[in-house]
Amino acid sequence: MIAAIRGTHDILPGEVEKWQHVERCARVLCERYGYAEVRTPVIEREELFAKGTGETTDIVQKEMYAFTDKSGDRITLRPEATPSMVRAYIEHNLGQVLPAAKLYALGPMFRYERPQKGRYRQFHQLDVEVFGMEDPAVDAEVIDLAWSLISTLEIAQAELVINSVGCPTCRPVFQEALLAALGSDLPKLCGDCQRRATTNPLRIYDCKVPADQPIIDALPHSVDYLCEPCATHYAGVKGHLDAISLPWRESHRLVRGLDYYVRTTFEVLGQTLGAQNALLGGGRYDGLVKRLGGADHAGIGFAAGLERLVLALPDSAAIAATPRAFIVAIGEDGRAAAWLLLRELRQSGLAAQMEFEARGVRAQMKRADRLAARVTLIVGGDELARGEVTLRDMTTGEQRAVARDTVVAAVRELL
Ligand code: HAM
Repeated sequence: MIAAIRGTHDILPGEVEKWQHVERCARVLCERYGYAEVRTPVIEREELFAKGTGETTDIVQKEMYAFTDKSGDRITLRPEATPSMVRAYIEHNLGQVLPAAKLYALGPMFRYERPQKGRYRQFHQLDVEVFGMEDPAVDAEVIDLAWSLISTLEIAQAELVINSVGCPTCRPVFQEALLAALGSDLPKLCGDCQRRATTNPLRIYDCKVPADQPIIDALPHSVDYLCEPCATHYAGVKGHLDAISLPWRESHRLVRGLDYYVRTTFEVLGQTLGAQNALLGGGRYDGLVKRLGGADHAGIGFAAGLERLVLALPDSAAIAATPRAFIVAIGEDGRAAAWLLLRELRQSGLAAQMEFEARGVRAQMKRADRLAARVTLIVGGDELARGEVTLRDMTTGEQRAVARDTVVAAVRELL
């Protein structure tokens, strides 16, 4: 037996309906907020992520599925969507071509991480990006879309956390203050943190090692070191969030694990996921479009993990299965007539099934039950002779004869 690769999973019937529900809600909301769908390739040049996601990130250093293809090019399975979206935005001049550069994408991402609940090697994201807009109202609109997704999916006890990590002007000042505050405590931190102190000190706030927490909790907050424009921007974002009554909490530890963020960062945390509690995360990345070869256009967005949204759905989530009809055929003549009726129902847009192998009535009724058919149609010699079909409402158990030429309308009424 050849099993699925560790950290990947099949999404089977029974589970897939939840996925369809999440994807449907995501699409409806994105369209409502004015985003257009984009589909980018799953494979990209490795350097796109080295430059985009950042050389010092765990993603690029440890987690990429990268390989040399047959023509000697370095290729990788995308670990995240943002650099691909930026590449597509630049490559197709979407800032000019589209009325508004507000894009969304749905699809699989790949990271060689240690699998656990809510963390996989192939996972799926809804990715949302806005280009060329700097106003803090845009940050609030993106966060509002993220929050609406969580509330539309009826995920309870979610928490919106925000922060501002400053910009290339004010961040160095903050980093200096951070390292100064660490001072003699630095050697007491874990090996990862000591490495981060030289590569990307802000990532120290991401550390999950219990022994490090008291030291990290006492470190300075980036919001206290923002330059004037960053402080004004951040105040604007909070003002817009308050105006629409979104319940946010500020966390100085929300620095995010990717290198491109400036100013606003945010996450929505769930309660049901254990250690992997981020349902979605994102922020502003002004400067990235330019770094990847485009004009100096701003950018902001977020990505939600679909596996995590599906795990967090309430049991009561109203996930409607397609209501269907089932035709029970009696005898050879019945089967021939049933086949015609089946096609008629399907052509008129109704979901219908029948058993093609010759089976007894009881076996066919059992099948109708297993399929959770809402209506069963019984087509047999006696009924046919009278030009009728017997229609059984599976919810009430009621049964009645219906004229053959009105049967489609009668089924439609019951579905
Ligand atoms: P990220 O925080 O790396 O950000 O991922 C976003 C979300 O994807 C996470 O909050 C989580 O729900 C899900 N996720 C990440 N890794 C895994 C995994 N191994 N297994 C399951 N789910 C996972 C980004 O990817 C940025 N590109 C977001 C962004 C868009 N920022 C600006 N625009």
